[in-house]
Amino acid sequence: MSRFAYRDGELHAEGVALSAIAQRFGTPCYVYSRAALESSYREFDAAFAGIPHLVCYAMKANANLAVLNLFARLGSGFDIVSGGELARVLAAGGDPAKIVFSGVGKTEVEMERALAAGILCFNVESAAELARLDAVAGRLRHRAPVSFRVNPDVDPKTHPYIATGLKESKFGVDFDEAPQLYRQAARLPNVAVRGIDIHIGSQITEIEPYREAAIKLLGLVDRLRADGIALAHVDLGGGLGIRYRDEEPVSLSDYARMIRALFAGRPERLLFEPGRRLVGDAGVLLTRVEFLKPGTARDFAIVDAAMNDLLRPSLYDAWHAVDPVRPRRGDERAWEIVGPVCESGDFLARDRWLALAAGDLLAIRAAGAYGMSMSSNYNSRPRACEVIVDDTQVHLVRRREEIGELFALENLLP
Ligand code: LLP
Repeated sequence: MSRFAYRDGELHAEGVALSAIAQRFGTPCYVYSRAALESSYREFDAAFAGIPHLVCYAMKANANLAVLNLFARLGSGFDIVSGGELARVLAAGGDPAKIVFSGVGKTEVEMERALAAGILCFNVESAAELARLDAVAGRLRHRAPVSFRVNPDVDPKTHPYIATGLKESKFGVDFDEAPQLYRQAARLPNVAVRGIDIHIGSQITEIEPYREAAIKLLGLVDRLRADGIALAHVDLGGGLGIRYRDEEPVSLSDYARMIRALFAGRPERLLFEPGRRLVGDAGVLLTRVEFLKPGTARDFAIVDAAMNDLLRPSLYDAWHAVDPVRPRRGDERAWEIVGPVCESGDFLARDRWLALAAGDLLAIRAAGAYGMSMSSNYNSRPRACEVIVDDTQVHLVRRREEIGELFALENLLP
């Protein structure tokens, strides 16, 4: 059930009319539903009830402190990819003992901070990273818990920019080289082998690539066990898709049934790293039409949000539904919904059949994941504000940036 629905001819977030939010906080504004965030986490977690598991929310999808804090309160762990994400999630009350650290380029400083915090595991992606981690841990007199991200060479059937488990990808270690790396790690003084992980891609809508990758992974886990290397956990990554348009995303119950069957009776704890699935549907980007600019070839609706606020359409040709907050009757036509940024690639939606007038509010749907977290200040545009709706209450969880802040870190030459 969506927490964004029409009531009395107007789109609401839970119990609050979006026009009231626009009036109070201005536009563009990201609007999240607390109930949607909480229910998606609970649904994911409950799908694996009864088997030892930990959900590590991939915070790159939406890293607002209030969002992280909501998940932390529900017992969530976190998947981080930088020292910045580590600091953020600790500031939000995340439990370090439930943090896994992914990413191909961890710096020494990032490793030190994560070791000092006492994270659950480093998801190591290369032999060079393993050597660096061993050295850093030795210096700090720590033993670094490690997992290797293996690359199962499975096609996730998604956009090439977000497919990560193919042989050509920069991610993970080669499947056939993994046993050798595990043996090497087992001999190192300052690391402790804990687990294994995969992440094959994002916005995956079929279950088969997951099954194929999990079966391959289990074969490797058993081979390692026979070699005397027993793993405490298996991390299956994230990637479950959502419906933006007409996709048929993998249902959580089918996914969980498949995983439960494959892992029945096994000793390893399961870790998951969902990002989009927990937050994507829980947010909209609220924007106002500034001008209508009908043309001879195309009709443009110029709105106050742009590619710097929501990059997905420009970067991946991603399709997001656009709904008028108060649908009007009248002259319907196919609009290009574009922002004010000086690039022809600055569009939020193309060819949308709508009746519009200047001043209308639009909600860009399913913008809770990789919306605000990928935003920028391109064209010196202050970033949008973010609010969380909780029933009839609205909480400002990130105020709009002020223009002066955009260049406050810069200096003139003497
Ligand atoms: N784990 C790892 C190691 C990842 O790299 C990612 C996402 C996730 C988990 C979470 O994946 P999810 O469950 O959200 O699919 N900006 C793109 C998506 C990039 C995903 C990068 N890695 C987009 O807007 O579609």
